[in-house]
Amino acid sequence: MGTEVKVEGLTKKFGSQVIWKDVSLTLPAGEISVMLGPSGTGKSVFLKTLIGLLKPDTGNVWIEGTDIANCSEKELYEVRKLFGVLFQDGAMFGSMDLYDNVAFPLREHTRKSESEIRQVVMDKMELVGLTGAENKLPGEISGGMRKRAGLARALVLDPEILLIDEPDSGLDPVRTAYINQLFIDLNAQIDATFLIVTHDINTARTVPDNIGLLYHKHLAMFGPREMLLTSTEPVVAQFLNAQRVGPIGMSEEKDADELAAETGIDMPPLPPIPVQLEPSDGRPRRAQRESGEWCRQNGVTPPEGSFEPTMALSGGAA
Ligand SMILES: Nc1ncnc2c1ncn2[C@@H]1O[C@H](COP(=O)(O)OP(=O)(O)OP(=O)(O)O)[C@@H](O)[C@H]1O
Ligand SMILES: [Mg+2]
Repeated sequence: MGTEVKVEGLTKKFGSQVIWKDVSLTLPAGEISVMLGPSGTGKSVFLKTLIGLLKPDTGNVWIEGTDIANCSEKELYEVRKLFGVLFQDGAMFGSMDLYDNVAFPLREHTRKSESEIRQVVMDKMELVGLTGAENKLPGEISGGMRKRAGLARALVLDPEILLIDEPDSGLDPVRTAYINQLFIDLNAQIDATFLIVTHDINTARTVPDNIGLLYHKHLAMFGPREMLLTSTEPVVAQFLNAQRVGPIGMSEEKDADELAAETGIDMPPLPPIPVQLEPSDGRPRRAQRESGEWCRQNGVTPPEGSFEPTMALSGGAA
């Protein structure tokens, strides 16, 4: 059914380096959330903190009554069973072929027979478009294929919470469109809580129910997709619309000279909001909201042309 993840006042440092501080947000049960942020702002560190691989300096991560930032190893082991994780680097065992890599969590955590395992593995391999590559070693395939194999492995235990770190890095645009549709279809099917870290603005604009932005050592904003896509907060508007004008520079923050050079240059108007991808079989997701619902409820007029079906760049259902 998907499990809520409640993050309260989370701060993470490595030595004296603060990665982010006082991050609070709730990943609503069964909804898809995307986390954005410039490179190096600690998105991967955040993901690892959510599954207790890294301990925060302060704060709590509540999952079904357990604070995994502060619980025992035994409790952590139990809570981890709820998760499926795709790490940024794929984290495949190099000496095992893809079949054994994907089967690994099933052999480790279930008592399924080898023939049952075969069924699940082949099913997930097909889902990510890797049928026929079962006997390849991770070193023998492309980065995009490794990503998809990692995704298959993240799915085998039917997770309640799916954490996915940059599924689209190294993927071509067509496969990215397929993966995006796959996330929507999967969410409709398994109803898990998703957190996807991505740099792909099209993914961020069309896939999630909620969007978050980590910037300059804090969570700049987290909320419903339409809230961020209509936000005129400079950092949010710059990032979600892939602009050069705004507070974010090449090395994270622009200095005073760079900002002064932009005086008088206005940010372009917000582009129309695309429709959110829908499940390909037409069955609604539990978290699905009507287009424009958030805007209506909050008295926000979306940019002209918003929610027209032709606005969606990555088609799938459109
Ligand atoms: N185990 C670690 N020990 C020390 N510092 C670390 C560790 N892991 C990450 N960092 C530091 O934390 C910061 C955030 O890293 P992180 O990998 O989370 O960035 P990111 O937002 O995922 O970037 P990208 O978009 O490039 O993947 C970086 O400065 C990194 O060097
Ligand atoms: Mg990362």
